[in-house]
Amino acid sequence: MSFDLVLFGGTGDLAWRKLMPALFQAFRHGTLPKDGRIIGVARDDLGDEQYRALIQGRFGEVDGAKRPSPEEFARFAQLLHFVRMDLSKPEEFQRLKATLEARAADTVVMYLAVAPQLFTQAIGQLAAAGLNRPNVRMVLEKPLGHDLASNREINDTVRRAFGENQVFRIDHYLGKPAVQNLFALRFGNALFEPIWRRENIANIQITMAEDLGVEQRGAFYDTTGALRDMVQNHALQLLCALAMEPPINAHADAIRDEKLKVLRSLKPWSPADLAQHVVRGQYSAGVIDGHAVPAYRDEAGVDPESRTETFVALRAEIANWRWAGVPFYIRTGKRLPGREACIVVNFRPAPHAIFNAPRGAANKLVINLQPRDGLQLHLLAQGQEKRRNGHTLTPVHLDLDFDKRFGSERVGAYERLLLDVIDGRLNLFVRSDEQEEAWRWVEPILEGWANDDNGPRLYNAGTWGPSAASAMIARDGASWPEEL
Ligand code: BG6
Repeated sequence: MSFDLVLFGGTGDLAWRKLMPALFQAFRHGTLPKDGRIIGVARDDLGDEQYRALIQGRFGEVDGAKRPSPEEFARFAQLLHFVRMDLSKPEEFQRLKATLEARAADTVVMYLAVAPQLFTQAIGQLAAAGLNRPNVRMVLEKPLGHDLASNREINDTVRRAFGENQVFRIDHYLGKPAVQNLFALRFGNALFEPIWRRENIANIQITMAEDLGVEQRGAFYDTTGALRDMVQNHALQLLCALAMEPPINAHADAIRDEKLKVLRSLKPWSPADLAQHVVRGQYSAGVIDGHAVPAYRDEAGVDPESRTETFVALRAEIANWRWAGVPFYIRTGKRLPGREACIVVNFRPAPHAIFNAPRGAANKLVINLQPRDGLQLHLLAQGQEKRRNGHTLTPVHLDLDFDKRFGSERVGAYERLLLDVIDGRLNLFVRSDEQEEAWRWVEPILEGWANDDNGPRLYNAGTWGPSAASAMIARDGASWPEEL
């Protein structure tokens, strides 16, 4: 099978930070089809060799990626090509067309890793140039729009040019190994499904914390904020994976139908809910890992009076028979104490206590997404009591470390998703109706904030966000997972 992968935004941040390393890993693992070209597209005045050198130079800057040796990179570099093109100039699409027609690959992947304002124009021009044949797959990187209306506009434009099954909307959280394992845990094992409901689960918490700030993306981030950047997409996709009904099979639409039902069941926001159950924060200067870091408002590209949130904590509810009344807490932020993503499923305590147990002790399942990828099941056990009549239970946990079990050289999120696009597997991609539902649900929060003069609550960089986030969850008698 031959493929051409056209990377719009070929010199951009996402290309060298995530996509090229992922493609390289697939190449190294031998899973990238051999007969392929990766064609970077950007306005820069580069030839193929210069593009290869640029990518090679930047590989060294990517955290955690195993750097290729020069020989290894040289083999990979044979796949890399470059087409100089300005997306705002229709005539320049002909140059791309000529490059693609020079060899007629079986599959052509168009990856739009560019500013979302360029999406509708680029898609329209691809169609006008006849570059929307059935063998073309369109990959759209988030954010897909700024609100429901702009998301619909993009989806409508895409729909005019491509069938839904040609469109791959990326949410890279769905490609993370831990998320695959969440599906495996729930739908490959019979153990949890019978208890996976309101009768047994007290609450579910999703935390996605980063110690990084906004890096070089200040200008983009300042018009986006944490709700659009992390909650509308990644957090809600995790929530869907946790709350959905078992799909009838593992096909893309069966899975997406069930996720859509969850999004449709999210309880709409009342003004009282917005006031009590949503906390927005913004980091001020602080210390992370012993280093002083500046306030968000002092970051390059950020408005010095910005009211953009870098932290969100909220309490969602799903209004259906399985989940009515069970809080789903979501918390995400930049410049928190560390990079950690985890899900905690808190089960209800035993209905009748015959042992002594620490106050509030109950079973919980912790799903770690990063930095480790694993599962811990927290139980209460009888320890070795010195006193003969001791019936006090001790919290213990079963620990499954997927990196140890399956090796740490596992397929990363972007690697997995890019291979799925090339192979035409849509299971881990988001359908337009899911996206629109997610926007519909977050929009009242955005509107509420726009009309609220108070602005975000400040928190010091290196802390767990505004204290109001802990107060919100404490009102329900719960607390966030033990902090790093
Ligand atoms: C991206 C956001 O979608 O996800 C970034 O735009 C964020 O702001 C990133 O840093 C987090 O992804 P991960 O995989 O590092 O948790």
